[in-house]
Order: sequence, then structure tokens, then C-alpha cells
Amino acid sequence: MGIEQTEYRQRREKLMEKIGNGTAIFCSAPTAVMHNDVGYIYRQHSDFFYLTGFNESEAVAVLAPHHKEHRFILFVQPKDPEKETWTGYRVGADAAKEEYGADEAYPITELDEKLPQYLEGADRIYYHLGRDEAFNEKVLSHWKRLILTYPKRGTGPVAIEDTNFVLHPMRQIKSPAELEMMRKATAISAAAHNRAREFATPGKYEYQVQAEIEHTFRLEGGMGPAYPSIVASGANACILHYIENDRQMQENDLLLIDAGCCYGYYNGDITRTFPVGGKFTPEQKAIYEIVLEAQSKAIEAVRPGKAYNEYHDTAVRVLVEGLMNLGLLVGDIEEIIKEEKYKPFYMHKTGHWLGLDVHDAGTYKNSEDSWQILQPGHILTVEPGIYIAPDIKPAEGQPEIPEKWRGIGVRIEDDVLITVDGNEVLTSMVPKSVEEMES
Ligand code: GLY
Ligand code: MN
Ligand code: MN
Repeated sequence: MGIEQTEYRQRREKLMEKIGNGTAIFCSAPTAVMHNDVGYIYRQHSDFFYLTGFNESEAVAVLAPHHKEHRFILFVQPKDPEKETWTGYRVGADAAKEEYGADEAYPITELDEKLPQYLEGADRIYYHLGRDEAFNEKVLSHWKRLILTYPKRGTGPVAIEDTNFVLHPMRQIKSPAELEMMRKATAISAAAHNRAREFATPGKYEYQVQAEIEHTFRLEGGMGPAYPSIVASGANACILHYIENDRQMQENDLLLIDAGCCYGYYNGDITRTFPVGGKFTPEQKAIYEIVLEAQSKAIEAVRPGKAYNEYHDTAVRVLVEGLMNLGLLVGDIEEIIKEEKYKPFYMHKTGHWLGLDVHDAGTYKNSEDSWQILQPGHILTVEPGIYIAPDIKPAEGQPEIPEKWRGIGVRIEDDVLITVDGNEVLTSMVPKSVEEMES
């Protein structure tokens, strides 16, 4: 399983069709240092990976559809047997042509010398100004030089356009091969959640549950966690990105686990919340049922042709109705929603695009008041929640929250593929009914 070289080529061809006489430049992700000369595990930039499948740092990919000889050019770290003994295998320029389908490949040390020939005949440069400031400067300085010489040559790039707007719409629609990768990433994530639910009992520590989850990720061939695993018991569940995972779990705790596996660069993202001791308290159950209902109604709103914001709006309405029924919000429902008086309980959106990035590429809006329309091949998360922090501050005019509700945090998150006639929940193998959460 995996993405074939032919698919990477098709992606490049499609991008080149879109950029016409432009030249696109993509830079690899920088390496990140943990301390001194010890680095973090390398993670390629998803745009770069999407177009090349190439997983090394200090690389640059150039697409120059108008160039007479070379349309796809790679700059890579040169072969260096001595360095490779220390820091690992490098593909090198020769194999980059053969194995990655580049028309030409050069050592990265030759970038400044070789790049101009691919820019001079372009009518614009496509480049995303990213976090690598040094590389941004390099691209801009090449462009400035070409602008200065334009009057004498009469050709050259007259503008820089952001690659996001041409590449990300492509990344948003998953191909059959990508969908297979997503199925694998979500299946491993699901297996890890099911294992965690069996394993978690009062007296164990959150990090022990984390270890079970991440053990499953690797055991099943995943690269590891798609993002830092959140294993949050009791009131920790009210901290959205809690990752300390060091508390000992108690009999009456809920445990919120938000964890997903990265498989071949594609990501799962699942949240489940269940009672560690096997039985919800009445208050926990009441909150859980509202969130479950909100999630189920929101999933129904995830269909082709629907605007992106609809499933969030659906979830918010169900959450607000539920909280009103419990007396935790009071007043006029339309006003509560319009003035966002539910926000002390629900402060995030109901999901995000999912794929090569956990918060995947692509816009949510087409203009100030027009949302993206859902299409077959999109994948998104549906993840409503209610968080009643121990020190929750109600919105103006809303009641103080009685003690018995405080410290409850619930989120339920699934990964959903939009299909031709509706949707498919890719993570349906993880149960979520009240009965199943108690068993
Ligand atoms: N775990 C990250 C998210 O749910 O967005
Ligand atoms: Mn999540
Ligand atoms: Mn998510």
C-alpha cells in the first residue's frame, strides 16, 4: 500500500497545467533541534511530500512547465558516505532522477547557480512565503534580480503568487490511493482507542493509557502519533490541549482521549470520552448524551452540496438546547446562539479538514460570507464537546454553575468522508453509545 510514483507525477502534471507559464518552487521542511546536536524526528512539509513523495530535508522542488528540457527539477542533499554513516541514508541527485522521476536533479549546494534558468522564462513565480525566513529571502532575492534585468530581457516573472491557492484545492479532494491511506490511518487509530478503553481502569495513570495507544500505533505500522496524544481524566478534560498525561485516574472520572495515528503521512484524529470506572454519574451521562446527540446531528449535516459551516451550526444548536434543558443556560435560544453565550462551555469549532496534515490544507471560506461547499472526496472531523471547567465563568446574564456539574469535559470526534450521496464515518469501529462506553 502507498502512493505510486505515477500518482505523484499526475499531481505534478495537474499543478503544472494550472500554473501555465509560471514556475513553482517548494522547499522541504526544515529540521528542528531538540537540544544541541540532537534533532526531532524529521517530518517533510506536506505540500512537498504531496508532489514528490521525497522525505529528506534540505531539498527544493521546482516545477517549470514552460522550460524546454526540464519540467520537474529536484535539488537534494548530495551523497556523502561519511556523513550518511552519522545522519542516515541520502538519496542523492542521481537516484533522485531515477527514483523520484525528476527530469534533472542537482546537489542543493548548486541552487543559486542553477535556479535562475528555471525562473527567467516564467511569467510568474508560485511560492508560499513560509516559516523558513532564510529561504523566503533567497526566493525574493532571485526575483528582485530578475525584475531588475527584465527591461533588457523583456521576459521574467512579474509577480509572486501563493502556491496554496493552486495546490490546496487539489490536496482537499482525496484520490482512491489517498483514501486507502486514510482508511489505514483511521483503522489503526480506532484499534488504539478500543485497546485504551479496555486498558484504562481507576488507579492507572494517564501516561500508561497513552503508552498503550502509542504502542498500538507503532505495532500496526504507523509512523507514530499524528499530534501529541491527549489523555485527560477528570477536570483535565476541560483543558483542550492537555498533554501532560500524568494524573492518576480515579473511580468516578471521565477519561477523554484525543489521539490519532499517522500512517504514511496520513492522519487519523479520534476523540472518545468514557467513565474510567465503567459507570457514568447522572451528571456525566446527561452531558455525554447532549454531546452525542450534537455529534450525530452534525454528521447528518455533512453531505455533498452543504455549506461547510452548517454542521458546526447544527452542533451548536443541539448543545445549546441540551444545556438549556439542564438549566445551565437560560433565556432565548436565538440570542444565546447569536451572542455566543454558550462559549464558556463550547469554545472551539466542530471540526477541520483532515489528511496529510491533521488540520489539513484548504480554505473554509470562499469569500467573507460564503462558505466552502462540501464535495465527495473531502474528509473532515466532527468533534463537538462540552467543557465545564472547575472555575467556569458563565456569560453575562447566565446562571452560576452548581458544583456538581463542574469538572466534566466531554468531546466525541470522528473522521468523516464526504461521498457522492452522503458520508461515510471512517472511524465507526470505535463505539460511542452510552451502553458501550459503560461496558
Ligand atoms: N487533536 C487535534 C484536533 O482534534 O483538532
Ligand atoms: Mn482530535
Ligand atoms: Mn480534530
